[in-house]
Amino acid sequence: MCGIFGYIGSDNNAADKVFKGLIDIEYRGYDSWGVSYFQGNSFKTVKKTGFLPSIFNFPSSSISIGHTRWATHGGVTEINAHPHLSCDNKLVLVHNGIVENYRELKKELTNHKIKSETDSEIIIHLIEDQLQDKNLKDAVSEVFNKLEGLNAIVISDGKEIVVCKKGSPLVLGKTENGYVVASDPNAILPLTKKLIFLEDGDLFSLDAGLDPEFKEIDWQYTKADLDKFPHFMLKEIYEQPQVLYNQIQSLDAAREIAEEIKAAFGTYFVGCGSASYTCLLAEYAFSKISKKHINFSIGSEFDYKEDFLTNKSLLIAVSQSGETIDVVEPVAHAKKRGVKIVALTNTLGSTLYRMADIKHLLNAGPEKAVASTKAVIAMVANILLYAYSLAGKLDLGIKVIEDSAREIENIIKRQDEIKKLADKIYNVQHIFVLGRGISYPVALEATLKIKETSYIHAEGFASGELKHGCLALVDKGTPVIVFLPNDETKAAVLANAMEVKARGAFVIGVGFENNPVFDFFFEVKDVGASSVLPHIVFAQFLGYFLAIKLGLNPDKPRNLAKSVTVK
Ligand code: AGP
Repeated sequence: MCGIFGYIGSDNNAADKVFKGLIDIEYRGYDSWGVSYFQGNSFKTVKKTGFLPSIFNFPSSSISIGHTRWATHGGVTEINAHPHLSCDNKLVLVHNGIVENYRELKKELTNHKIKSETDSEIIIHLIEDQLQDKNLKDAVSEVFNKLEGLNAIVISDGKEIVVCKKGSPLVLGKTENGYVVASDPNAILPLTKKLIFLEDGDLFSLDAGLDPEFKEIDWQYTKADLDKFPHFMLKEIYEQPQVLYNQIQSLDAAREIAEEIKAAFGTYFVGCGSASYTCLLAEYAFSKISKKHINFSIGSEFDYKEDFLTNKSLLIAVSQSGETIDVVEPVAHAKKRGVKIVALTNTLGSTLYRMADIKHLLNAGPEKAVASTKAVIAMVANILLYAYSLAGKLDLGIKVIEDSAREIENIIKRQDEIKKLADKIYNVQHIFVLGRGISYPVALEATLKIKETSYIHAEGFASGELKHGCLALVDKGTPVIVFLPNDETKAAVLANAMEVKARGAFVIGVGFENNPVFDFFFEVKDVGASSVLPHIVFAQFLGYFLAIKLGLNPDKPRNLAKSVTVK
């Protein structure tokens, strides 16, 4: 997590450039922010808690580094915000990652005044000590080698900026008059398209003598703005029909990946959070549509299941950001075993994109809201298309995706019905969500949307599981959402709905057909296996409207960040 941006050069608006860059990468963490700029012969530093303001006026300077924080060590305070300064105030540092051995390292710093509770500040004091007999680059190298964990650091002494990384992403750019460094290439593109992606262990000093070759890339900067929408989440929900139509424009990748799945001896879909639910959904979709078994794993658990991977295995990493460390790490380990890697990602140039042998872009456009909506929809659509392609039924796949896009257009028009439901249940403590078969991962995704945006406790179940213990939690009036697609699960799902109803639950049916068991019903037309897509959209709207009713910002939920780059 944490966003990093820095500039050094002959332009005298370094801090303004850094501030603008931080706005593009604020999704990496928004607990607090800070910018240091070199003026006269010393650094001045601005640090604030909370979101970045839309404008901030900085005096002129030609060296600046900045940071947006997602707190790991130490609370959300101005003192804990980055940049951190050395005791003599001559060095500034921003950091992304976790220094796992920081307590041990801190013991070496007996003669330093440590101001914050962070692991990050330790690094700058250790470098300050090394500077007694080394230049900045060598001092940074010496200290960086002592750090345990996955870290990226950017440091300046007012003459140069030194950057290095292991695990956490960093990209350098060469502009007409200087150099930039950032944790996301998209944030650099407004300034230059000449980039270098740092590899683990790379350490550079950004000065006129910087020798590595910058590659000119032809990517376009994708700016996301709100247009007429009050929130990115709502805007991104509205974009989904178009995102689905985009997926069926070109099917080469779906065909190629289906062939790889056919040839592989074991295919593993791996992702985290919402992406993990799309991977679980893949297990059902492949079984149902192509009569093929594929394996699913949560990213952070996959390392513990990798022993049997071989060079005939196929790993499909599913990730909006392409930077989720809990996916990047197991992919790196699998790669060492010769496993072929597919990246299904929304982010061109991301770490997973660069690691993959086969790269499949989601083409969903930039997703800014922390709660993933259109990227999830694009992931599910592609997983269905792979399964249909493997079954030799790609035409049917295209048809059901088109049908689901039209049904989502319809739901967007009927969103008021979901708003009324949110207004009715917004003050409950728990919401339960039930689904069977392919709708089980939909239930899990629905609960995540509700939790992230409204902070209401929600739990999703394979609906047959509820009676094995958690039915004890259902009380009079507890909202229970039941997904009812027109498939082989309907009779059993309705029976489970009856069971919760008998315990006093307020039963909310979402599906193709109303039933007396439902206290509230939201109709979603039957669009075959792709009914999962409009069902997910129902849950997105519910999460959004619950947040609005509760006065919460659905785009930036507390404690979360869009891109999770720490373990
Ligand atoms: C989704 O709403 C979440 N914000 C989160 O679970 C997310 O899906 C997860 O962190 C994975 O992110 P990725 O797709 O960028 O890898």
